[in-house]
Amino acid sequence: MSEHKRVAILISGGGSNMVSLVDSMTGDHPARACLVLSNNADAGGLEKAAARGVTTAVVDHRPFKGDREAFEAELVKPILEAGADIVCLAGFMRVLTAGFVSQFQNRFLNIHPSLLPKYKGLHTHARALEAGDAEHGCTVHEVTPALDDGPILGQAKVPVLTGDTPDVLAARVLKQEHVLYPAVLRRFAAGDRTPVLLG
Ligand code: GRF
Repeated sequence: MSEHKRVAILISGGGSNMVSLVDSMTGDHPARACLVLSNNADAGGLEKAAARGVTTAVVDHRPFKGDREAFEAELVKPILEAGADIVCLAGFMRVLTAGFVSQFQNRFLNIHPSLLPKYKGLHTHARALEAGDAEHGCTVHEVTPALDDGPILGQAKVPVLTGDTPDVLAARVLKQEHVLYPAVLRRFAAGDRTPVLLG
């Protein structure tokens, strides 16, 4: 592990992006997963990570009752203990403060299900449908204090098709997320920030 970049992945739910990332870090890939961390003890991704031999941890945000700094002071501990070189958000559903983000500046990635800068925030698929967009997709970007706003490291496009519902479109995008995020991480871990553009 020492010769590889160590990657911590933060999740809140099923962790399908986390699984894609973990499963991609093999062979001559310059990185390996060192931790999967969730704010939700019931996150389905935790079992999937453990089944892959990846160390897991949970820091439940609820006891902190909106005191973001107190939650983040606990959240950062397993990341530091794991010696993470890179932190990836993958379906992590808590907004992080500038203080937390600044600790991992320039080594902090997120995947967002839209073609940023369009549709920052939630309900991206419904918003793309409401706007009548012909195409949609996902973006991997560097995490900065502003939400869904950092330098773009990759994008994957999908067509919007007649009759698409938000769920159908989300599923089409998610398939591309599972291709894009591993491709970006591999490049990023090798020190290359050239954007990955798919579809
Ligand atoms: C995905 O749409 C991802 O873009 C967003 O969270 C959703 C669920 O991701 N960040 P996962 O299956 O938990 O990786």
